[in-house]
Amino acid sequence: MGKVVTLLTERTELRAWRPSDRDAFAALNADPAVMEHFPSPLDRVQSDDFADRISSGLEKRGWGLWAMELPGRFEFVGFVGLNEPGFDVPVDLAETPPLEVGWRLGQAAWNQGLASEAALEVLRFAFAELGRREVVSFTTPGNDRSRRVMEKLGLHTDPRDDFDHPHMAELGHDRVTRHVLYRIGAAEHAAQEHDTARRQLRDHVGRFNLGVRSGDWSAMLRSLAPDAVFTAVGAAAGVLRVEGRDAIGVAYAADPPSDEIVVFDPVGDGDHGVVARWSDACRPERVLGDLCLHAGPAGITALAVTFD
Ligand SMILES: CC(C)(COP(=O)(O)OP(=O)(O)OC[C@H]1O[C@@H](n2cnc3c(N)ncnc32)[C@H](O)[C@@H]1OP(=O)(O)O)[C@@H](O)C(=O)NCCC(=O)NCCS
Repeated sequence: MGKVVTLLTERTELRAWRPSDRDAFAALNADPAVMEHFPSPLDRVQSDDFADRISSGLEKRGWGLWAMELPGRFEFVGFVGLNEPGFDVPVDLAETPPLEVGWRLGQAAWNQGLASEAALEVLRFAFAELGRREVVSFTTPGNDRSRRVMEKLGLHTDPRDDFDHPHMAELGHDRVTRHVLYRIGAAEHAAQEHDTARRQLRDHVGRFNLGVRSGDWSAMLRSLAPDAVFTAVGAAAGVLRVEGRDAIGVAYAADPPSDEIVVFDPVGDGDHGVVARWSDACRPERVLGDLCLHAGPAGITALAVTFD
């Protein structure tokens, strides 16, 4: 491809690496929090070697693991981009080698939606400009931050695709050997691109499930508008109506849901927002009712759960 492609989003620029990126890259690779889900932090020599490898891959192909800049704010915050793994992923995938989307940012850049914003553009590039059939991503099961980014991008996982990373196994890094695999095909991506409302609903389900797994509902609550209304209508529950984000937070803290849920296609537009059929994740064959979501500029304004 020759020249390195630059990708731009509202807040991020993915560009070729510069020698001046190395200090900040070494600092983030030395941070135990950033490297929690890898064998260990990297020292300066290892960090520079890694930067050499990924920057030369980028120069060679024109795409790859780009250096990420926040124009006007930070010249370098980490990398986001594409990589073909240097080992055989022991899962039946659409392409060999598969194309992986990945990310690593310094802590100062976390939790502002930056990895997701940049990676959405990277996904578009992978399908629209490289013509790939599938994009995958993988990490350790406990890397909830990274798993959330994968979910927000619309990638999905199947426990049957969990695998042992052969390099980690070979080197005896038992703590980080087990991996979960997420994937999205070109057709799924095209459908998702045309349906942002559907993505909002799936994002909500991801945040809800994160709350079930961790007991921390803050991400879900942050996505609600201050005057959001939650209703649940069902034979057993009767009618429950909670008004306002704070009151919804109190209700979830008092009686936290204990089961993760899934939503099904087709996700349609109802009178009051986007609607999907839903069920408990542990018994997906038993559909329980409808989930309806309405959103405005301030976030989700209405959530309604009905039980058939
Ligand atoms: C993974 C990483 C790139 C995410 O970057 P980011 O810019 O913070 O990502 P985003 O802001 O787009 O999304 C982060 C999501 O994780 C959620 N999150 C934050 N802290 C969390 C925690 N402790 N547990 C679970 N989820 C958490 C956020 O709420 C957000 O989800 P939401 O938008 O639904 O609220 C960044 O954390 C990182 O560099 N980690 C270290 C390196 C790494 O593990 N790389 C991936 C290897 S596969």
